Amino acid sequence: MDALKAKYLAAVAAAADEATLEEVRVAALGKKGEISAQMASLGRMEPDQRKAAGAMLNALKDEIDAALRAKKAALGDAALDERLRTEWLDVTLPGRNRPRGTIHPVSQVMEELTAIFADMGFAVAEGPQVESDWYNFDALNIPPEHPARQEHDTFFMNRAPGDNRPPHVLRTHTSPVQIRAMAAQGAPIRVIAPGRVYRMDMDQTHTPMFHQVEGLAIDRDISMANLKWVLEEFCRAFFEVPSVELRFRASHFPFTEPSAEVDIRCSWEGGQLKIGQGDKWMEILGSGMVHPKVLAAAGVDPAKWQGFAFGMGIDRIAMLKYGIPDLRAFFESDLRWLRHYGFAALDMPDLAGGLSS
Ligand code: DAH
Repeated sequence: MDALKAKYLAAVAAAADEATLEEVRVAALGKKGEISAQMASLGRMEPDQRKAAGAMLNALKDEIDAALRAKKAALGDAALDERLRTEWLDVTLPGRNRPRGTIHPVSQVMEELTAIFADMGFAVAEGPQVESDWYNFDALNIPPEHPARQEHDTFFMNRAPGDNRPPHVLRTHTSPVQIRAMAAQGAPIRVIAPGRVYRMDMDQTHTPMFHQVEGLAIDRDISMANLKWVLEEFCRAFFEVPSVELRFRASHFPFTEPSAEVDIRCSWEGGQLKIGQGDKWMEILGSGMVHPKVLAAAGVDPAKWQGFAFGMGIDRIAMLKYGIPDLRAFFESDLRWLRHYGFAALDMPDLAGGLSS
């Protein structure tokens, strides 16, 4: 027994980590361990002998067990000490300056126009950017052979050979959200749908991705007069001028009848654009009364319901409002540009406080 004791106490003392210590425990006290085997042999002894040997074995077992526990605690402390030694942080060091961005003018303008239209009872609707050509075209009264399909410079999604599902496109405008919103909630309905749209176009004034906001108001007796008032209210609030003058120009869109393009009165003085006064006109959106076929495609009965829709370029009105000269810079992620034209994270526009004050 002295030999066993010496052997295992030495093994415990020599164990350098918890895994080795566990091996020592199993070898001595495990079910098939050496001490356990000795315990099992007690049964074959004479009663007197067994009593003496049993007491000694138990004492030995306790002693080894205590040594194992003590060593385990010490190893744990050592591991913690090691972590404390290596994982440290000097909290007195100055903070590291990370490059800091700002809220992009497009995001800011989306917040602004959402606040303005929300005040007029418009909810925000959304749709996918990868859209079926049915939603992007057919449902909007643009059948497959319609010339408008070519005008849109559409990006088509690739299909594997043999994949015969209907084609999908990157939506070329936010108008498909009209269909989705009406199909989902029926009439009456009043929504705007701001978001990204895509066209294969790239020059000084066009980027392959840009932003639009769609507007839709359907009820029993909504007319062009309501459209005009809503757009004037919007422009006054958005450009933060006491009054604006809008010019409705007859136009054509497949999804509206009648259709109008809307210009806003402005002036250019010394390269400085002024909204609301002057002798120039700037086109800002397309609009009209929703075509009965469009209502029907979305499951709304055109004999009972009517209303207006409009689509406006967000990047365009952001440039106008904040005097940003170049569209392409919007999407270059240049921090210097962002610091110049961007907004602070807490500048949440709301009408009660004055939109941008
Ligand atoms: N979807 C048109 C475009 O992207 C814009 C537009 C015009 C939207 C008239 C409308 C509308 O809702 O009524 O060019």
